[in-house]
Amino acid sequence: MYEHSYTQRKAKNLMTTDMKELFCGFSKLDRKERLDRLEQMGALSAEDKEFLLSGKSVDIKLAEHFIENVIGHFQIPMGVATNFVIDGRPVAIPMAVEETSIIAAASKTARWIDENGAITTEVVGENIIGQIQIDKVKNWQRLEGFISLHKKTLIHLANTDVAQGLKARGGGVNDITLRKLDRGDGMQMAVIHVYANPVDAMGANIMNQVCEFLKKPIEEASGETVTMCILSNLVDTKVTRAKVIVRGLEAELMERIEEASLFAQLDPYRAATNNKGVLNGIDPILIATGNDWRAVEAGVHSYAAREGKYSSITKWKVKNNELVGFFEAPIILGVVGGVTCLHPLAKMAIRMMSITSSDDLSRICAAVGIAQNLGALRALSTVGIIEGHMKLHIRNLTLGVGATEREMPYVQSRLEEILALTKRITARNAKEVLMEFRNRAAGKPNNEVNL
Ligand code: MEV
Repeated sequence: MYEHSYTQRKAKNLMTTDMKELFCGFSKLDRKERLDRLEQMGALSAEDKEFLLSGKSVDIKLAEHFIENVIGHFQIPMGVATNFVIDGRPVAIPMAVEETSIIAAASKTARWIDENGAITTEVVGENIIGQIQIDKVKNWQRLEGFISLHKKTLIHLANTDVAQGLKARGGGVNDITLRKLDRGDGMQMAVIHVYANPVDAMGANIMNQVCEFLKKPIEEASGETVTMCILSNLVDTKVTRAKVIVRGLEAELMERIEEASLFAQLDPYRAATNNKGVLNGIDPILIATGNDWRAVEAGVHSYAAREGKYSSITKWKVKNNELVGFFEAPIILGVVGGVTCLHPLAKMAIRMMSITSSDDLSRICAAVGIAQNLGALRALSTVGIIEGHMKLHIRNLTLGVGATEREMPYVQSRLEEILALTKRITARNAKEVLMEFRNRAAGKPNNEVNL
């Protein structure tokens, strides 16, 4: 799976320990130094580095190809999660995200896992799902007979007339099934499921085309009327798994994390937030690589409710004195087609991880998602989330009230003191501290300058 990356890193004489060393103190470096380190790791090329350093924006003309009524680009920060060793391979993970502390928490947890255990991943299954709906079936027996008799022909037609490209790359349509839904009004609804291996594409466009193409032959031969054709985001036929093992922890900490996990398994209100935390690790990678994060969100949440009750997408257990975590959900994405191979930063993000297939990328997403969850549960079940999160959020608050470069160090360190003292911090505190600083600088009493 990771042949390409190993070859690349071997060529640069870089193996796990080198990568780890190059990630040492990464967050303390300035941007240029970080880019130098990423170049030394082989994660960025000299051209990538130059492009990032130049601060150039992506050609606006490209945006016109992606969406309608373009007026500009919305930029969000792109950072790198460090210290991840996934399936034994160190990897620099690009994340595009606006939320403070996600990258810091991911990197910190990744180091903790690496020092005490491991993350392993796998993809199970290969098919995505398309749906062809017949809202009111006229003759169920006839429809059932038609599908079982002509399934092979329909598959062949789809693969020769629409999905020939996929077929040539080793994928294509490979099964069709029929589901019966009771409408509750005495009639039956039919849903024909079309299964296809999209290889390294996300497959949405091709699946929608296959389903719409099959509408005519199905209608003509079955006598039924097809009412809707669309893919399903609940892809329970292809799921990505990640497993984390952490050893040598205090029994109390492991129990607390297990309990926090049980809370999310039992209570949908908690499960929603738990799963949001998992997606904190996944969505930024999807955005950085130009993937459809709404589709993955829909897939993960619907998979979390597949047993009829919304629950946690992760599970943590203590087994033989080890903390063991599991994640399993569909993460359907692509590394070919669409924005992934047109947007220069998306292409760079994919190159950075030295991945060659959509399965590789989905495994990385699962690994970062479960690590992010572990980081959140560890904080929530011990010191609470405020400590780590707010320390970083202080930077945003300071900027938000308009502190200048010169004022920032004072405002930040005062806010840190207030946080340590009161365990709380708001924009109002930031305003007051800034006012205090400006008054002092102007030699005025503390309530004279209004911001
Ligand atoms: C915040 O973005 C994410 C958390 O709320 C996740 C969780 O509660 O597990 C910290």
